[in-house]
Amino acid sequence: MERTFLMVKPDGVQRGLIGEIVSRFERKGLKLAAAKFMQITPELAERHYAEHVGKAFYPPLVQFVTSSPVFAMVWQGDNVIALTRALIGKTDAIEAAPGTIRSDYAVHTNFNLIHGSDSPASAEREIGIFFSPEEVLEYEHSI
Ligand code: CMP
Repeated sequence: MERTFLMVKPDGVQRGLIGEIVSRFERKGLKLAAAKFMQITPELAERHYAEHVGKAFYPPLVQFVTSSPVFAMVWQGDNVIALTRALIGKTDAIEAAPGTIRSDYAVHTNFNLIHGSDSPASAEREIGIFFSPEEVLEYEHSI
């Protein structure tokens, strides 16, 4: 069983796409383990996006994700990292496969609606930044 960190970014929240995005993961049969509607501080953004420090897109990225609320989540299931990344689509909306969230709703790499962990190590690190252990729930999921 695997966990991943997913976050509807400010553009997704402002466009009213939280429900649509959550619905896609629910319909897939994945299991929600935690969720939080929150405002990201600059300090939290810097921890989350530490690997991108120094890149040209880093300052506007931090400015953007701290500009208004996000919807942070933990999802769980076999191969949940690969499955959610497949549903999300490539970072660049032009390259995202038809039917993916980014292909269907995003037009720009800077405003690509959702972040998803790219590896088990990233998922563990990112979940730990956004959630306390008690906030990530354990419960039976029969299907
Ligand atoms: P995300 O999955 O949140 O991780 C880093 C974010 O930086 C990415 O989505 C994009 O929104 C943004 N970004 C902007 N330009 C680039 C780029 N050239 N490569 C990767 N990410 C980029």
